[in-house]
Amino acid sequence: MGRRVRLRALACLLCACLAMAGPGLSGRAAGLAASAPQRLPLSRGVNLGSILDAPGEGAWGESFQDGFPRIIKAAGFDHVRLPVCFSIYASDEPPYPIAPWILERVEHILALCRAEGLAVILDLHNYEELMGESAQGNAPAQKPRYLALWKQIAERFAGQPDTVLFEPMNEPALSAETWNQWIPEVLAVIRQSNPTRWVLLGGCAWENAQALEEIPWPADERVAGTFHFYQPFSFTHQGAEHAAEEGSLGWVGTPWSGTDGEQQPVREEMERAAAWSRRTGRPVHLGEFGVYQAADAASRAAWAGSVARQAEAQGIGWSYWDFCASFGLYDEKTGAFETALLDALMDR
Ligand code: GLC
Repeated sequence: MGRRVRLRALACLLCACLAMAGPGLSGRAAGLAASAPQRLPLSRGVNLGSILDAPGEGAWGESFQDGFPRIIKAAGFDHVRLPVCFSIYASDEPPYPIAPWILERVEHILALCRAEGLAVILDLHNYEELMGESAQGNAPAQKPRYLALWKQIAERFAGQPDTVLFEPMNEPALSAETWNQWIPEVLAVIRQSNPTRWVLLGGCAWENAQALEEIPWPADERVAGTFHFYQPFSFTHQGAEHAAEEGSLGWVGTPWSGTDGEQQPVREEMERAAAWSRRTGRPVHLGEFGVYQAADAASRAAWAGSVARQAEAQGIGWSYWDFCASFGLYDEKTGAFETALLDALMDR
């Protein structure tokens, strides 16, 4: 599948240690007004994952269908996150033009979502030239291209309503030092054409909540935080091919029933993100959480429902990963939802 192998389990451990070490750099973060954070137009959402973030739409089996936004809206969601692997559609030569047809494809999806009243997080996903384990050294060489991608994306979608939000990098697998240097640069590029659009930023280490503390937040009140949650990884990624090197095939059958002990880390992570939001005056969004389809249906529903409720209890909007692929809640071939999972997410 060519998807990068993640070492999330290790990252989680590291984060737990960092969390114990205290709030880190947050005291130095650019201070915003200490009033309640502005609200994002995002409550309950779902990721259109493994579609345009694949190396070619359909390469991982899923393609976008024009009926999706209507189905998603009718199911009770108010937004989608649209991950796009823009890097594979762009030239390697300056000025790194993105193929016009993929921008048209995205524009088409945005229009259908808008017609249904769905907000959209447009996310740059799977920039493999940066993300592979052997690619770390590529960062300086790729930076002009990365910034050029965002110049084109931002200019192309500058006329979209405020309910389209930009997320410059999914799960930045860069050193924190590199990512922190790039943040003001990519934000400046976006701000040239989109002075007030919401921009969502997450930190390194798989974008966990603790990583929010590591970002030197720019003094821009339309920049919000985003984080992902997949703990326990051996439960959420049981059977997931892209985590096979970490042993995922041996995790199949791992249950999750929502005992107090199981719920505690969920609660703590949501509280951590909410505390960061209060401290910095910025809204925060849970951009990804989900369970691979190999887990049993009751456990998937119990975990997803618990995460969604704990997030909501902290005033955090969320976006389930994913809609119709291997973590999905909808089967586009039969037109059926995984009812228990959807009901759990929607609290009904
Ligand atoms: C990240 C990856 C995506 C993966 C998901 C769950 O978003 O980019 O490919 O499916 O996490 O592991």
